[in-house]
Amino acid sequence: MASESNLRGRLAGKSAVITGAASGIGRATAERFAAEGASLVVNDREAAALDSLVAALTGKGAKAHAVSGDVSREADVRRLMDTAVQAHGGIDILVANAGVIPEADLAAATAELWDRAMATNARGMFLCCKFAAEVMVRRGKGAIVCLSSISAFAGQPGQAVYGPSKFVASGLTKHLAIDLAAKGVRINAVAPGTIATPAVARMAKEGIDKVVKLHPLGRMGRPEEVASAILFLASDEASFITGAVLPVDGGYLAQ
Ligand SMILES: NC(=O)c1ccc[n+]([C@@H]2O[C@H](COP(=O)([O-])OP(=O)(O)OC[C@H]3O[C@@H](n4cnc5c(N)ncnc54)[C@H](O)[C@@H]3O)[C@@H](O)[C@H]2O)c1
Repeated sequence: MASESNLRGRLAGKSAVITGAASGIGRATAERFAAEGASLVVNDREAAALDSLVAALTGKGAKAHAVSGDVSREADVRRLMDTAVQAHGGIDILVANAGVIPEADLAAATAELWDRAMATNARGMFLCCKFAAEVMVRRGKGAIVCLSSISAFAGQPGQAVYGPSKFVASGLTKHLAIDLAAKGVRINAVAPGTIATPAVARMAKEGIDKVVKLHPLGRMGRPEEVASAILFLASDEASFITGAVLPVDGGYLAQ
């Protein structure tokens, strides 16, 4: 990640904002983007973990700033985007990754759990897209990648709240693609299968083992494999792709 290689990276000269970057897929994406030459502003509500990520990135020569905050709070999201503009002159890329993965079937799900999950996965993703797009539209260019899921395509046990929340990610991607196309801004999503992140490690092992068997490639994905797909959609190599939801799922949705 030396500055010389940054000049040659696939995101050289780009300013990127990544939410939920302290863990899992967000962290792997931040590391990959930095290695590809992007200047980063990273967010998470876990401030200490976020600071340690930024220390690791800057230690390797990357430009990175931490803005801790909750994506469901409008003021926090505005502060995040304002920081990117002040630090790097604009926003070329948003990765709307911050998310929670509650496990609950319909009987166990409560209105309170629904509101809490939707605050991050739906309202938070909407706010991030809205305020990043404002900056991008002013400059007539930009690319957004949202984190959807296989749970936005196929029913699964214990996802009475999480599954619907991920339909929001796919829905924002489709509808905002139409709003933003003429303004030079692309928006796409990735739909990961089961990925080996701290969020998945916290789930009941028996249920995860069953789901992993449903992935034709026969294993969980790695956060770095999702980061590669996000990198492609965020980069200029995807310049004619907008409104797409790309499965990164070991073949789960092919069945
Ligand atoms: N891991 C999987 O199998 C999988 C599969 C499909 C989709 N996804 C999606 O990928 C994204 C990342 O998941 P992960 O598995 O890496 O989870 P993770 O728990 O490892 O990381 C998520 C990060 O988001 C942060 N976060 C949560 N709510 C926040 C909020 N309101 N404001 C700011 N930060 C917040 C957390 O602190 C955490 O650091 C999520 O949107 C998730 O729905 C994950």
